[in-house]
Amino acid sequence: MSNAAENMTAHQDTMPDAQVDTGADEASTANARPIPRISIQAFCEGQQTAEVLQVASEDRRLTKAHVSVHMGGPTAAVTHYQESPTPNLIIIESMQSGDAMLAQLDQLAEYCDPGTKVVVIGHTNDVLLYRELLKRGVSEYLVAPIAPMQFMEGLSNLYNDPDAAPVGHVYSFIGSKGGVGSSTICHNTSWILSELLKTDVVIADLDLAFGTTGLDFNQDPIQGIAEALSTPERLDEVLLDRLLTKCSDHLSIFAAPVMLDRDYEISPDSCDMVIDVVRQSVPYVAIDLPHTWSPWVKQVLLQSDEVVITAAPDLANLRNAKNILELLKQSRKNDATPHLILNMSAMAKRPEIPQADFEAALGIEASAVIDFDSELFGQASNNGQMIEELNAKAKASQTFRELAMLLAHRKEAKPEKTSGLAPILQKLKLTR
Ligand SMILES: Nc1ncnc2c1ncn2[C@@H]1O[C@H](COP(=O)(O)OP(=O)(O)O)[C@@H](O)[C@H]1O
Ligand SMILES: [Mg+2]
Repeated sequence: MSNAAENMTAHQDTMPDAQVDTGADEASTANARPIPRISIQAFCEGQQTAEVLQVASEDRRLTKAHVSVHMGGPTAAVTHYQESPTPNLIIIESMQSGDAMLAQLDQLAEYCDPGTKVVVIGHTNDVLLYRELLKRGVSEYLVAPIAPMQFMEGLSNLYNDPDAAPVGHVYSFIGSKGGVGSSTICHNTSWILSELLKTDVVIADLDLAFGTTGLDFNQDPIQGIAEALSTPERLDEVLLDRLLTKCSDHLSIFAAPVMLDRDYEISPDSCDMVIDVVRQSVPYVAIDLPHTWSPWVKQVLLQSDEVVITAAPDLANLRNAKNILELLKQSRKNDATPHLILNMSAMAKRPEIPQADFEAALGIEASAVIDFDSELFGQASNNGQMIEELNAKAKASQTFRELAMLLAHRKEAKPEKTSGLAPILQKLKLTR
């Protein structure tokens, strides 16, 4: 535990008391980041904590880590580590408080290999105890009952250097059929996000054979993504910079080669590695997925921070959207439900499933509905322009702005309308 003690000295000074708060914090959802390939062993005393750790261990953020959850608390841990080497991280739940807990941990410390971190889950919200634990090299103290997200955020803070550049959010866009406008929505939303927030966004076009990102931004891009995927271990920030094509101040594209004379064998692992490198250097990564189903497409969807499913209002789209949605809900229990975009609605003379029925069948509300507008979308597409550039007043432009803000978890970035009543309304909490 001695190394851990050194690591914690700085942390200790800046530790706000709020960190010993109990319960799940909704806002922390966005903060939990993937945990590296470490071994984690937990020794719980309460069934509830064991269940929470079990749920967390099945979360996408912990897929790389090896987690095992045992019962028996500190006593079992001491017995176990007398015989076996300690893992990268030990999680100990103790029902004791104060000196009794410290004595248990001192005993455990005798068997801890240097470099092993310890996280303690306790049942008393006591800042003095917290400080005492940190002094002894404990990396974090969480007060039960804990929620899976809170737990994962605690771990994520241990393994993601707070001084390092923030790890980017990854959004995946997939169509529930081909040609429903998923790429169009991915490009417009990403572009507008980069414009409104003035922050860097990269669009990774994973439709290697037919991707349209280059065309949509009127670029003749370096076709970098295939190179990155074929030798992901070579990808670093310098190479990434060379492989990206800059479209505007804040938007770059990782473009598809769009050549048919080569075979594209993408492995889930190489996808994972490439996305990891990109998200280390940019705050927002939008992944434009083709409408296909393969192990790597599934993996990208499962690992993304958010998923946007675009569907046109017909039966095949409904069925496919339902299948994707169910798969994601099943495998991502701690994540937000995917966003549904109903695109190409209200097309003249085409029978369609009404929005309400579509939503009812899926059990979610559409995050946006975009009408079919062949003139607007056709022209933008032929010009290599975004809808906003062509017609900022179009309803679709407003929809893309709202969608971008929704994905970034921000309120509308336009200046607030001021009314004489605003301060009073605010006081009365009648405005958001
Ligand atoms: N709301 C819409 N109205 C009219 N045309 C649209 C709309 N959304 C997308 N399109 C057009 O549909 C075509 C297919 O879009 P694309 O984004 O490539 O689909 P996908 O990526 O789902 O295969 C493009 O030509 C695009 O301009
Ligand atoms: Mg597409």
